[in-house]
Amino acid sequence: EKDGFDWFMLKEIAEQPKAVADTLLGRLSDTGALVLDELRLTEQELRDIDKVFVVACGTAYHAGLIAKYAIEHWTRIPVEVELASEFRYRDPVLDRSTLVVVVSQSGETMDTLMALRHAREQKAKVLAICNANGSTIPRESDAVLYTHAGPEVAVASTKGFLTQVVACYLVGAFLAQVRGVKYADEVAAIVDELRALPEKVTEVLATMEPVRELARSLATEDTLLFLGRHVGYPVALEGALKLKELAYIHAEGFAAGELKHGSIALIDQGTPVVVIVPSPLSRESVHGKVVSNIQEVRARGARTIVIAEEGDEDVVPFADHLIRVPRTPTLLAPVVTTVPLQVLACEIAATRGLDVDQPRNLAKSVTVE
Ligand code: F6R
Repeated sequence: EKDGFDWFMLKEIAEQPKAVADTLLGRLSDTGALVLDELRLTEQELRDIDKVFVVACGTAYHAGLIAKYAIEHWTRIPVEVELASEFRYRDPVLDRSTLVVVVSQSGETMDTLMALRHAREQKAKVLAICNANGSTIPRESDAVLYTHAGPEVAVASTKGFLTQVVACYLVGAFLAQVRGVKYADEVAAIVDELRALPEKVTEVLATMEPVRELARSLATEDTLLFLGRHVGYPVALEGALKLKELAYIHAEGFAAGELKHGSIALIDQGTPVVVIVPSPLSRESVHGKVVSNIQEVRARGARTIVIAEEGDEDVVPFADHLIRVPRTPTLLAPVVTTVPLQVLACEIAATRGLDVDQPRNLAKSVTVE
């Protein structure tokens, strides 16, 4: 039941703090260590992993793109992210020391299932990150880490996505812990930061009224662009996908630094551009570059919608609309920055009079290749 919400999607967006908390439950010990017995790999097997593939479709693929940043940084193991529908046709290099992480909310996506079968035939170890208990993908995998998001009814994935991202962090931090890496202190600190995430998502949800208002003013647009860098780039892709599937508005996500290599020609007077700004404190500091990107698009007429951390004053002069999110370590920021984009897409679709829970041409699980 919708519990008083107009749409299942709104209900599921609101459930995200609990979904994230449930996904962390029992997996973080009081001593700061991670407990992931579900991985079912011996310590030796975990140490022998020399390459990781994350394979998924759609929104789950975006979770994989975020996973790449976190897993490579924490573990120094090379990570490739691949669309499940492309994976096996490319004849990827796989062997016993390859870990293939398949990510699927439904556990029934045929493209992802075929990719996992291919990986297992090639002797790779397959870990499923999945939400649906006992579904086909976890049954056929070597191991499974369940996201405890609860049932997702709306076709567009929201809490499914956020918990997939969190599960990917758990895998990355656990691999780092077992293998003992140079960023050990940072990984220990991350455990505390993971614990703080549900509260931060609650904070974001409490400030969504201006986003709903903004959405109503965007409902007649015919194109929206989304820009991000580092982990903000997959968030931009996710924001664009949500808008396309729900509101049937043309939307594209770009790596902000890539814009000047062609796509900036799309910007015209009044083109709405959503920019996901990394923390000014990020060690990877691309913050200044993203602030410049906002200036560049604005100088060409864009109407800028800026998502930035509380306390980031650098963006203020260039933001036509400013959406604040709580301070969060760079790699974990997608858990907070995605939420306003979900609300934006949902509200734009509702304003256009569309069926938010059942967009045209889409099914909740895609069981054909
Ligand atoms: C978008 C969406 C789809 C799914 C994709 C994979 O909101 O829901 O892009 O993410 O079809 O589905 P699962 O995760 O069930 O494999």
